[in-house]
Amino acid sequence: MSGTSLKISLEKVSKLFGKVCAINTVDIEFAPGALTTLLGPSGCGKTTLLRLVSGLEPATSGRIWFGDEEVTHLSATRRDVGMVFQSYALFPHMTVAQNVGYGLKILNAAAADIAARVKEALEMVAMDGFQRRFPNELSGGQQQRVAVARAMVLRPKVLLFDEPLSNIDSKLRRSMREDIRRLQQASGITAIYVTHDQAEALAVSDEIIIMRQGAIEQKGPPQSLYHRPATAFVANFIGESNVVAAELGGQSGERWLAIGETYLDVSHRADLPVENGPVQLSLRPEFIEIVSKEAADESRRTALAGTIVQSAYMGAVYEYAIQTPVGRIFTRAPATGTRFQRHQPVDLRIQPDEVIVIPESVPDSPAA
Ligand SMILES: Nc1ncnc2c1ncn2[C@@H]1O[C@H](COP(=O)(O)OP(=O)(O)O)[C@@H](O)[C@H]1O
Ligand SMILES: [Mg+2]
Repeated sequence: MSGTSLKISLEKVSKLFGKVCAINTVDIEFAPGALTTLLGPSGCGKTTLLRLVSGLEPATSGRIWFGDEEVTHLSATRRDVGMVFQSYALFPHMTVAQNVGYGLKILNAAAADIAARVKEALEMVAMDGFQRRFPNELSGGQQQRVAVARAMVLRPKVLLFDEPLSNIDSKLRRSMREDIRRLQQASGITAIYVTHDQAEALAVSDEIIIMRQGAIEQKGPPQSLYHRPATAFVANFIGESNVVAAELGGQSGERWLAIGETYLDVSHRADLPVENGPVQLSLRPEFIEIVSKEAADESRRTALAGTIVQSAYMGAVYEYAIQTPVGRIFTRAPATGTRFQRHQPVDLRIQPDEVIVIPESVPDSPAA
């Protein structure tokens, strides 16, 4: 089926609403048969970009391609896209079968064909048997499954999801996102998925596009965005991150990172900037170990000294905020170990291999 998957390309696409530039000269490709997520804070342009792809919104400038076909001036109905919205947008006075079959009825399909295809689409979302129910007789999760079936029944070339799980409670969200993922992979349809939830993005995506103020900040597979964020904004948006200022120094064969008075030996790392000087680091909580002050080696400062300012029991882990000379650091430790108390002086051991040096040259203070 992936043989029929479409690549979607945007070429210098912009969208203005009056003076508001919602999308600013975006060049991007969505890989055929892949699920690509648009991730970013509220107002960054995710919905607008999705609506430009769907044809619900015309671009102010630029060109949009589905495979080799330019669709810039095609209406939404002629672009052959299926959409699933945050609000399920089912017709309240129609049954599940009528909702799912609506598009086929508009196309004048025969009643028997409609029934068969509605059944097939409902089977895909594990909702076969609910044909005669009305939307208000279904849970939110079930309504969203029906909305997905309604998008799938027309066998679109492209599937677009705009925050489809935002109105669904958190337990169900996890299983629904896996269902959507499975369905998309089984059908091989090119899909674009909008969310502001980074955990959801990491879980469902082949690729993630981080958006910021109408532009693309970084694009890549989940792992590469997590381990190699190009900017502090991305480091903060994907996963949890402590962004701190540091100094890179030394010469080939013997290099160090100074975080305040603390020196990390990074001699063996081949991925560091060639030039010495001030850098920004992203420290992920999972690579910061808290040890009590006495246990640390005082002769050479390889650990970052600090004081616990917050300590919370979270079930499996303790979460800590530690005040250090380079700012407040967030980390966690297994709840099976010692619990550190507020005001307690501690040392933070940072794994030199796992420190992320953010390549952007200009220091960045992330918005939001
Ligand atoms: N129809 C519209 N008219 C005017 N401004 C709009 C319209 N739609 C979106 N915008 C503006 O464009 C920007 C991007 O909005 P949107 O695409 O909805 O962001 P997101 O989906 O990432 O939250 C925002 O500043 C928003 O206020
Ligand atoms: Mg939106």
